Amino acid sequence: MARITLRQLLDCAAERSYGVPAFNVNNMEQALAIMEAARSVNAPVIIQASRGARAYAGDIMFAKMMEALEAMYPEIPLCVHQDHGERVSTCLSAIQNGFTSVMMDGSLKEDGKTPGSYDYNVGITSEVTRLAHMVGASVEGELGCLGSLETGHGEAEDGHGFEGKLDRSSLLTDPDEALRFVQATKVDALAVAIGTSHGAYKFTRKPTSDVLAMDVIEKIHAKLPNTHIVMHGSSSVPEEYRNLFNENGGEMRETYGVPVEEIVRGIRFGVRKVNIDTDLRLAATAEFRRVANRNKSEFDPRKFLKPAMDAMGKVCRDRFEAFGCAGQAALIKVKPMSEMARLYASGALDPHIEKKAAA
Ligand code: G3H
Ligand code: 13P
Ligand code: ZN
Repeated sequence: MARITLRQLLDCAAERSYGVPAFNVNNMEQALAIMEAARSVNAPVIIQASRGARAYAGDIMFAKMMEALEAMYPEIPLCVHQDHGERVSTCLSAIQNGFTSVMMDGSLKEDGKTPGSYDYNVGITSEVTRLAHMVGASVEGELGCLGSLETGHGEAEDGHGFEGKLDRSSLLTDPDEALRFVQATKVDALAVAIGTSHGAYKFTRKPTSDVLAMDVIEKIHAKLPNTHIVMHGSSSVPEEYRNLFNENGGEMRETYGVPVEEIVRGIRFGVRKVNIDTDLRLAATAEFRRVANRNKSEFDPRKFLKPAMDAMGKVCRDRFEAFGCAGQAALIKVKPMSEMARLYASGALDPHIEKKAAA
């Protein structure tokens, strides 16, 4: 059995000091590219679906696709995660469809645009945690709003992100509040705001510490050394693929993502889950453009999709290696959700807050 909960996977990652990329998936080609890459380096996998991805593929298709991956890659621990759940019912229906983990993103209200208050966030996240843990599923919460420290804006490029402008303090997770939030909600993993944002346009120059606040991760880790930290908006937007995209008729202005070395630094300070969507989108569509441009008579979709899968697979392998999770799959003995439910009920998985940090 290869389906693993986020909590168990990240506990293993923390024990051996590595991070795990969480790749967003909408279709078979992305899923196969990720799994083939994982098999080639023996890495565990987190596949995540946004609400948009679930709507695009359909819940039945998505669930059957995950079953197929389990059957095809039985040696690879596979965590299936709901990305940015906006309400309790989204999280519960994900679990009904075989997801082993959900994100309740209470940093924004149900509309996905309006920042939620701390109390709103604690209330809704605790509710999801209480229910999910009963059946052994894991929960990721988010504290702080993702957005650019360069401009103060969130981005609605993929339909998720606050509208308008926020001050710097709302764009950075407060470490003391993080401690209280984890204690109150019992989340298994905490997504933090440090200046990253979704999509291709994160930074106008290679990010320095004023716009990519890795020091905030260090401070949160000092308060919560046993909590798994999640970095959203962590695509690196490789120049190689931006150039390929532009050389073949695409239009993507100069932009910078999160450098892989900064993520690796985060992993030293408790980052265990690293969300990546844009990089696979860009690698795939740059290849579509290259094929279309070089062979204008080509109309077999496989001739576009195969090179796209190869490019996505290369990105995945690079991240598995860089984050230290290559070679780790075989070391994980997957616990079923029923066992995780028993552990939650016994209190064994409650957040372990060090007394000195809480004081
Ligand atoms: O939440 C961010 C991901 O990039 C998902 O994007 O809603 O377009 O699938 P999406
Ligand atoms: P990117 O847009 O940087 O790939 O981020 C994806 C993400 O955080 C999904 O939750
Ligand atoms: Zn995200």
